[in-house]
Amino acid sequence: MTIAYLNGQFVPLQDARVSVLDRGFLFADGVYEVIPVYGGRPFHLSPHLQRLDKSCAAILLDNPLTHAQWADMIGRLLAQGETGDWMLYIQITRGAAATRSHALPAKPIPTVLAFCQPLPLMSDEVRTQGVGAITLPDSRWRHCDVKSIALLGNVLLGHQALSQGCNEAILLRDGQLTEGASSNVFVVLDGVVITPPNGAELLPGITRELVLALAEETGLKTLEKPVSEAELRHADEIWISSSTRELFAVTRLDDQAVGTGKPGVLWAQVYSAFQSFKQTYSISS
Ligand code: PDD
Repeated sequence: MTIAYLNGQFVPLQDARVSVLDRGFLFADGVYEVIPVYGGRPFHLSPHLQRLDKSCAAILLDNPLTHAQWADMIGRLLAQGETGDWMLYIQITRGAAATRSHALPAKPIPTVLAFCQPLPLMSDEVRTQGVGAITLPDSRWRHCDVKSIALLGNVLLGHQALSQGCNEAILLRDGQLTEGASSNVFVVLDGVVITPPNGAELLPGITRELVLALAEETGLKTLEKPVSEAELRHADEIWISSSTRELFAVTRLDDQAVGTGKPGVLWAQVYSAFQSFKQTYSISS
């Protein structure tokens, strides 16, 4: 049975209930985090909680729990299930008010939710063949750095990719790469690993930071700079990163092969560094 944390209580996920007047339900007025859990241990919890603080500040909501309280609650939640690899989902909304009103309540009582789902492992097919992606215009709002639960734009863009047999929609705004519908994007050009700089156009991915650091550690040159559509289309390698997908190689873009059409050598190098890092991280717990 999956256990959820909801407003101070641990309850079976299927029994967890919130009011229909919850502002998360009515206005998507909330923020969230997705944290991978390896061997029962949350991976890079601190940067996730720091990003949650920033998301709360961006929507003018006080984070109802301190980092110590989050860590304690997450520890207790994980202790209720099997040790293993999980996707930990946490969400804060501005809670339920007495009536539906756009106006922000003066003293909101936030709704706090957390639960885990199994984290799917990368399949052999994805490891050896990579994944397909399509490009789409980035039709989302202009605060993509906020991890808001208002994901309809991302969901519909991602759906277009899935309905065309692809794994991700890679988004372009004004001729520049922003990110994926649910991932950050890297390109390799002339042996340099490049990703667009953080800003309002993309989520400052926790995996993105780690991938940049690991690429540097393995001796690769990295750059955070704008990537044009032409550079994207001529890249030798394209990678996507996220807490649930780690680091995938994109080997088809809009039905054209990327580089050799197979996951590239630099992807293999950084992916392997990622796996070693994960191993060390779980052992050091
Ligand atoms: N999404 N950009 C977007 C739009 C995302 O939704 C995500 C992750 C990322 C990668 O961020 P991180 O490395 O911190 O996971 C970038 C999560 C996994 C989700 O919504 O399920």
